Amino acid sequence: MTPEAGAAFAKLVSDYLARSRNAAEFVGTSRTPDELVECFRELLPQNGLPLAEVVERVAHAILPDSTWLHHPHYLGHQVSAPLPAAIWMESVIGALNNSMTVFEMSPVATIIEAQVVRWMCDLAGYPAGAGGTLTSGGTEATFTALLAARAAALPHAWERGVGNEPPVIVCGEHAHYAVMRAAGQLGLGTRTTVTVPSREFRMDVIVLAQRLEELHRAGTRVMAVVATAGSTATGSFDDLEAIGNLCEQHGVWLHVDGAHGASALLSPAHLHRLRGIQRARSIAWDPHKMMLLPLSAGMLLMRDERDLEAAFTQRAPYIFHEGEEERTWDQGVRSFLCSRRADALKFWVALQRYGAGGIGALYEHLCDTTRVLYDSIEQRDDFESMHEPESNILCFRYVGSGALNDAQLDALNLEIRTQYNASGAGWITTTVLGQRRTLRATIMNPRTNAGHISAVLDGLSRLGRRMQTGEELDLEPQEA
Ligand SMILES: Cc1ncc(COP(=O)(O)O)c(C=O)c1O
Repeated sequence: MTPEAGAAFAKLVSDYLARSRNAAEFVGTSRTPDELVECFRELLPQNGLPLAEVVERVAHAILPDSTWLHHPHYLGHQVSAPLPAAIWMESVIGALNNSMTVFEMSPVATIIEAQVVRWMCDLAGYPAGAGGTLTSGGTEATFTALLAARAAALPHAWERGVGNEPPVIVCGEHAHYAVMRAAGQLGLGTRTTVTVPSREFRMDVIVLAQRLEELHRAGTRVMAVVATAGSTATGSFDDLEAIGNLCEQHGVWLHVDGAHGASALLSPAHLHRLRGIQRARSIAWDPHKMMLLPLSAGMLLMRDERDLEAAFTQRAPYIFHEGEEERTWDQGVRSFLCSRRADALKFWVALQRYGAGGIGALYEHLCDTTRVLYDSIEQRDDFESMHEPESNILCFRYVGSGALNDAQLDALNLEIRTQYNASGAGWITTTVLGQRRTLRATIMNPRTNAGHISAVLDGLSRLGRRMQTGEELDLEPQEA
């Protein structure tokens, strides 16, 4: 690889980062899956092409039809517009390709992973003896945490299985699907998982107390309670202090799914939302969400690292060297994966470049911008918010002039979202809350400002009005 080859790829990225600032560019593609299939239908390439031609294809076939998360009108899913230093570090990680199973394959990255995990344990208020692992994301982190909880509740499950009456998991109705998925994967069965209803989108702690009491009286063992810190639908935070108290009373493992919201630990203004988090025995936390790292960078923290080692009790003498008395640096004994990317390196680079304070300030900025969206909606008649934002997620509804009933508004909001995203002018998501279809914005891009917010609302509203009146649509992206 010559320096020119590297520069050609670097130029692709810097051109993308520069162009995606411009609100007049398209956010995403309007092509259907079938059309995209046609774009890439070709025989398996037998011979390589000159690099310049390949780079040209990336520029013209891949970038334009991809979703531009750095576009200021991208208010979509919880995937970040990643920080530049971390983006550039990806090529170093790929070039080194040091796998994170054992220390001997990735000496520096292994030590750096332990260091960033330690820093994050300190932020969470965990004691010495805490530990953790980087993961592919929140789903793997929560699965691993619940595997560790299973090892604590059923130490012989690894060899003998979970038996006929395994313990149950308790979680909030708005918990991420990772929790139910883990219940299925761990052999507990999804049907036995107990879901607790919400009050204002947070787990209802009074009902949780009742459920735990009922389960206790029925002689059903509870393997873990999963609380959510930053829920997927509304970005709401469960009351960790109250839930921690109940788990302590009942001697139950508390897992906090902080995939989205644990990054509030970096923000003095939002830290209070995580009060009590140190009481959790395990915490899932995704730096690839609100710490704005590129995918993938998930993390699991454990109050006692031995719990994590107990989760994976397998022997593999060809890779893990047995008989060592001291704590091993080999992260493979603490991870679901064998080959594992050295994502710790980009995490470390981002902390070096922006500092915990800088990343915490970005967290606050994203939440402040979401507040601007909420305030703008409060001042308009054509939208209504479904809740006040606690972080950077807001669900809201187009209501137009108020002439339509709920069912009509459900259909209209869904169609607005579909047509708006297909137009390329902006990109938002949708969900169902309390049986009502809503629009959902997640502000993950620090470039999004008040002007962009009003451009998105105006675009959605124009579309809603025209869909009601049958007027011609003109939704080309416009400079905000
Ligand atoms: C609360 C919560 N938990 C877990 C996840 C899953 O994380 P990942 O996609 O990194 O596996 C998400 C993702 O949206 C989430 O919002």
